[in-house]
Amino acid sequence: MEGREQWGTRAGFILAAVGSAVGLGNIWRFPYVAYDNGGGAFFIPYLFALLTAGIPLLIMEFTMGHKYRGSAPLSYARMNKKSEWIGWWQVAIAFVISTYYAVIIAWAMAYTYFAVGQKWGTETKAFLFGDYLNLADAPGQIGSLVPSVFIPLVLVWVVTLGVLFKGVKKGIEVANRIFIPTLVVMFLIIVVRALTLEGAALGLETFFKPNWSEIMSPGVWVAAYGQIFFSLSIAFAIMITYSSYLPKKADINNNAFIAGFSNSSVELLAGFGIFAALGFMATQSGVGVEEVAAGGIGLAFVVFPQILNTFPGFNGLFGVLFFGSLVFAGLSSLISIVETFVAGVQEKFKVSRRKAVVIGGGLSALISILFATQGGLYFLDVADYFINTFGIALAGLVSVITISWFVKKLKPFQEHANATSDLRTGLWWRVCLGVVTPIVLGYMFVMNLIQNIKVNYGDGDFSTSFILYSGWAVAIAALVLGFVFASLKWGEKDLEVPAAYSEDKGVKAK
Ligand code: ALA
Repeated sequence: MEGREQWGTRAGFILAAVGSAVGLGNIWRFPYVAYDNGGGAFFIPYLFALLTAGIPLLIMEFTMGHKYRGSAPLSYARMNKKSEWIGWWQVAIAFVISTYYAVIIAWAMAYTYFAVGQKWGTETKAFLFGDYLNLADAPGQIGSLVPSVFIPLVLVWVVTLGVLFKGVKKGIEVANRIFIPTLVVMFLIIVVRALTLEGAALGLETFFKPNWSEIMSPGVWVAAYGQIFFSLSIAFAIMITYSSYLPKKADINNNAFIAGFSNSSVELLAGFGIFAALGFMATQSGVGVEEVAAGGIGLAFVVFPQILNTFPGFNGLFGVLFFGSLVFAGLSSLISIVETFVAGVQEKFKVSRRKAVVIGGGLSALISILFATQGGLYFLDVADYFINTFGIALAGLVSVITISWFVKKLKPFQEHANATSDLRTGLWWRVCLGVVTPIVLGYMFVMNLIQNIKVNYGDGDFSTSFILYSGWAVAIAALVLGFVFASLKWGEKDLEVPAAYSEDKGVKAK
């Protein structure tokens, strides 16, 4: 594959990797997950997961992309033809995520507009589910298209596919150079403002108060690993694809540490900002912070508008900054998610980038319309849970086991990464990936499986049939698609490892 595109600069790659990692997961997911799983005590499992799985896996994925210079499927195929399906499985997981992730960004776009003059009124919950989403009565009903979701969704796709059309250097790199600094400035303004609000200290106290008994609970460790995987964009093909555009001399280990710690810093910053704001709201309404704390959709689209309603000044401006941050964080992640299947399709089916964007991105955009209907939120909730639990986490487990136990590539990967990196990893890296991560992820998988077989996800909100076709079937379909795409033949020379990048010197990958 001659003339593979490359990042223009090292900073360009780091910004793109950070742009992918920093997403909706940091701003709306992390603060509540941390609070709900032991507060200050959550940082122990979180740091453990970051240092033993997050960063080691990031190094592993960066090494794969750099060494094999291909999208996830091609990289896996070049490593070992029998493992190609893992690459496609991860791409299929990314595809599923892209279909609903785009819709959440569309909501954030709409709310950026609603923020001017607080168009959501005083009853923010009723506004979200009634006026805005026009939510169907029951899960499984599709209902009609919701124009106020559909219109911003079109915009989300125009921007995302437009950036991808332009390619790696002129599209993705340029977009991240604009989005990330803008996001950081916007977000810092809100966090600083939140920290100076009345009651901020109370919010932070609630956030950081350690509940030590929680860290013995397996659920908390599952939450920490889940958060790290989603947040760092690992095990869903992204980081392999992005690092395949690195030049020959690239400091893999350092880049992984920079990306990993930058992501966690933004996460922590979000925790500070959100809980300071929650402390303010609790103080205003004379209740405890625990009564106003919420996660996910509830936090961003119900509680935050309420907080903005009671802000002491510049309510519209802060609203635009908050929802605008979600839009920028989301877009830079969505671009990376879609790039995984653009690159995969482009390489396997030998089509131009533009065609791959139209086919891959176009299909995802079409499917995302389902989530812009009245029943969309129910589908989104279940698909998100299943693709995270039985997609990302499981694909992560399968990939580390395959690489460390079956194809035994940890040592060569380590040598490859250390050869171009200032910071060299040692035995800890191989122990983390070959022993610690498989044990923890394996345990997580068994626990999750038992749990989901015993009780349906959603505390009785969903029927078994709905869970089956919108959750289990989606996760299983991603896996099946992995095998289907891997069964298609490559061209004769496609699987040759690019000589300049590998100690295998251009021989066919075994
Ligand atoms: N890593 C991205 C996020 O946190 C997908 O949202």
